[in-house]
Amino acid sequence: MENVFVFDHPLIQHKLTIIRDETTGAKEFRELVEEVSMLMAYEVTRNLPLEDVEINTPICRAKCKMISGKKLGIVPILRAGLGMVNGMLKLIPAAKVGHIGLYRDPETLKPVEYYCKLPPDVHERELILLDPMLATGGSASAAIDFLKKKGAANIKLMCLIAAPEGIEAVHKRHPGVEIYTAAVDQCLNDHAYIVPGLGDAGDRLFGTK
Ligand code: PRP
Ligand code: URA
Repeated sequence: MENVFVFDHPLIQHKLTIIRDETTGAKEFRELVEEVSMLMAYEVTRNLPLEDVEINTPICRAKCKMISGKKLGIVPILRAGLGMVNGMLKLIPAAKVGHIGLYRDPETLKPVEYYCKLPPDVHERELILLDPMLATGGSASAAIDFLKKKGAANIKLMCLIAAPEGIEAVHKRHPGVEIYTAAVDQCLNDHAYIVPGLGDAGDRLFGTK
């Protein structure tokens, strides 16, 4: 699939299996979502540009590499995207964090916006939109719409589990957006839940089931 990157690292796959397991409680679920997000952050930042810098080691002057002045932003979709923020910030602590509040109306399954607060310079930033679940793609597409309306041009989407339907919907509306995921599952069920998925990510993270 074009513009879809599935992270098949054994640690990510192992931890994702425990996340999926219905017997995993909220504490372990949260910890593992954070850990997987950190491992995914390592992969998603692989192509960040480097620049040469000169430093003094205790031995001599040395030419070394550092990430060049790229401005990064991470944008969790509330609520479940919050579970991925700390893992990302552990590896990219200088990233600014925006928030987009959306929930999926249980009747219409359409996303409803209730909050949006972004860094003022989103147009200059490489943005990584975070949401563990890409189901119908309605929420992610709406969030990308908001980001584009605010001037963002460089947007990636990072999730834990994507349904083929969600990938197709996001790419139909936003063909240039790269999707990074730990798994592409089989399909959606009649309630637009991902199969096999992990259930309701927000409820499992925050114990509201
Ligand atoms: C879940 C999930 C996504 C959305 C995915 O959020 O975290 O945001 O559903 O579904 P979609 O691709 O069909 O739009 P939910 O609406 O349950 O809200 P929550 O995070 O507040 O629990
Ligand atoms: N939202 C979730 O939390 N889980 C799904 O499977 C689909 C949407």
